[in-house]
Amino acid sequence: MGKHGAVKRRTVVIGLGTAAGAAAAGGFALNARATDSAPAGSSTAPDTLTFDKDAFTELTATISTDDGDKKVKYHFYKAITYVAAPVDEKYQSLNVSVPVEIDGEPVDATRAPILMANSVGGYMPSSVADATGVGGAAMTGAPGGTGGASPSASASASAGAGEVESGGNAQLDGRGQMVSNAKLALAAGYVVVEPGARGRTLVDSDGTYYGVAPAAIVDLKAAVRYVRFNKGRIPGDTDRIVTSGTSAGGALSALLGASGDSPLYDAHLKEIGAADASDAIFASGDWCPIADLEHADMAYEWNWGANKLSSGALADQTVSKELKSAFADYQASLKLRAEGFGTLTARNLDEYLLKTYLEPAATRYLGALSESERSAYLTSNPFITWSAGKATFTWADFLTHVGARKKGIPAFDAFDLSSGENNLFGKGATKARHFTLYSLRHESGGSARLDSDIPEKLKLMNPTHFIAERNKGMARHWWIRVGTKDSDTSLTVVGNLAASLKALGADVNAAMYWDKGHGANDDAADFIEWIAQVTGYRNRKK
Ligand code: DHB
Repeated sequence: MGKHGAVKRRTVVIGLGTAAGAAAAGGFALNARATDSAPAGSSTAPDTLTFDKDAFTELTATISTDDGDKKVKYHFYKAITYVAAPVDEKYQSLNVSVPVEIDGEPVDATRAPILMANSVGGYMPSSVADATGVGGAAMTGAPGGTGGASPSASASASAGAGEVESGGNAQLDGRGQMVSNAKLALAAGYVVVEPGARGRTLVDSDGTYYGVAPAAIVDLKAAVRYVRFNKGRIPGDTDRIVTSGTSAGGALSALLGASGDSPLYDAHLKEIGAADASDAIFASGDWCPIADLEHADMAYEWNWGANKLSSGALADQTVSKELKSAFADYQASLKLRAEGFGTLTARNLDEYLLKTYLEPAATRYLGALSESERSAYLTSNPFITWSAGKATFTWADFLTHVGARKKGIPAFDAFDLSSGENNLFGKGATKARHFTLYSLRHESGGSARLDSDIPEKLKLMNPTHFIAERNKGMARHWWIRVGTKDSDTSLTVVGNLAASLKALGADVNAAMYWDKGHGANDDAADFIEWIAQVTGYRNRKK
């Protein structure tokens, strides 16, 4: 399997110097760097982390794009272990695909942007070790959370409630076809890196959960460091790493973007023998990010609390109202502002989401329909007013239109510890724990305290903190998307993420897809074009 031999699991860790924290001090607010600091000075990574540019097989793929099919010849580097002291190589390895010919024309990807596409779903393990080509990661992943029926009439790309080693977070385009950012990026002449990562369900023979938080983000950061460390050896521009991911993978992509070069991860990275280089990225592409987990229950009730469960009943309204009221305090504490809305509070957030995302999404959707399709849609959805080429409606009618909420209550920190996120915050031989005081105290009484390691782990998993702190290594460019019928989490997650980044002066391209559910990627071609725009990359021909 791995280039460095058989699958290795839970090896003894070795120490390795890392100096990345200080190494890449370039913050987006200050300059354009998600830069390479040169592979930092005195300490060198062992040979095992040196990319072997000759160790590829040449493959050909026919990739369907909006411009028709592209025949791509590419070099495929398979299952490279990206850390020197892996815990489990099956997951801590990455694939690299480098285009060399597109439709018969030679391509030089030496300076091309690098798309680092993770395939994490459900915070489950993801491995690329058995992939036979680009975009072929064996994804794991079902959503966590409670009450996980899939939303109907939506692009639900997750596997359902089971925890199976298939399904994953493949995305669906506007026509409901599978779409792969990795493949489209390759067909555009970019270098594609697909990292695996440990995930929450991995358990050792001694019963230890070794993929729980913060393993996945530590692994993905190590993968970024591996690429940066191999500047000049690995094809592509290591100053132009763009990450992508969906759902849990979208949250991790956002976290990569927000937490670049934060020293908080150093000890974890050192433990697995991560390369000595910056883990700041240039741009972050995030679809339906399941982020801000410690506030996700309250945000969920603010958004979907009045929507019925899939059973047809309302969720416990006492719990719902308590969480909703906690959300008002949380939202106020963020002190986020948006142009035209002032401070975003629980009182104007509905209007903000409506005017900034929901109505524009409906307008785009309806505008792209033929006259007769549009009038049929408007007839069956009379809550929408279509006037002068614009859709308007109320928040309350929008909620009714979405229908049943996907998750139970609380949606993330389940009282009975049954959610994927409870497992994400497991530790040692403990599979699942509470990570909010609300759920913990609901079960264990008013004076119960969260386990002492939980606050730090929450921080390591949450982009919000790094944005609030104006982390210097933050990505400058952001692509953020979610479907308007995606009730896997609150729509405020995207709204707040985008607003907080914009407030810091980041370049944010955020939008919603009308009537689309979890995992939708309606404008994949635009994302690929956006990468060219923000990186300034054009010349791919030799
Ligand atoms: C995913 C979905 C969820 O509902 C969740 O809570 C976590 C992850 C996912 O599809 O990755």
